[in-house]
Amino acid sequence: MKILIFPTSEAAAERVAQQILTTVRAKPQARLGLATGGTMPPVYQRLVTAYRTGQVSFAETLSLNLDEYVGLAPDHPCSYHHFMQDTLFAQTDFAPGHTHLPRGDAPDADVESARYDALIAANGPIDLQLLGLGPNGHIGFNEPSSSLASRTRVKTLTSATLAANKRYFAAGEQPPKYAITVGIGTILDAREIVLLATGPSKAKAAAQMIEGPLSAACPASSLQMHQNTTVVLDAAAAAEL
Ligand code: GLP
Repeated sequence: MKILIFPTSEAAAERVAQQILTTVRAKPQARLGLATGGTMPPVYQRLVTAYRTGQVSFAETLSLNLDEYVGLAPDHPCSYHHFMQDTLFAQTDFAPGHTHLPRGDAPDADVESARYDALIAANGPIDLQLLGLGPNGHIGFNEPSSSLASRTRVKTLTSATLAANKRYFAAGEQPPKYAITVGIGTILDAREIVLLATGPSKAKAAAQMIEGPLSAACPASSLQMHQNTTVVLDAAAAAEL
């Protein structure tokens, strides 16, 4: 693991955006594994700016996102489909047929998980996998106790994750209890991984990921086994290292 610590969350986001841009410029047909969450808009805003100023094109780039809530249709404002359209895809030249997420509204989530895993296998390996970090150490929606060899499947969200993500839902609306997520094994197949974590709520998980034992109790610690992973932190997220 390469660990990079920046004074501010903005500088950390800039570093991650530059890594994505470098990958796409070197290989316009790159397969990107993309991520959602409140950490990512500063990264995606930089990609949008680079596109608008003619510094990059995503017209040939393929994206395969990590996860989606079970039960949310793509047009639900809290779905990850909607998040990606809003923050990145609709503001750049990603081709609609080239942007993939699991379908949260599929009639059978297990069948959808298998379909999505086969899609990744057919298009993989992912050239650059972007990850955020859950306060409990999850990556994608691979919650603590996830198999380190797991593939795409349905996961039950922990009460800690439901509480952490409640802020993205309207008052009175309950976040879904289940999600489809690519597995840890799927993530580790990527050629290159970059994880971004910012803010004090990530400090404990960042320390466990980097300095703790390899353990399903902290799914992000699985990245210790990957040969080409960069962890980008701001000072607040690095505070317990
Ligand atoms: C969410 C997502 C993850 C994300 C993480 C952190 O639940 N499933 O992919 O990286 O939790 O989210 P945030 O950036 O909002 O803190």
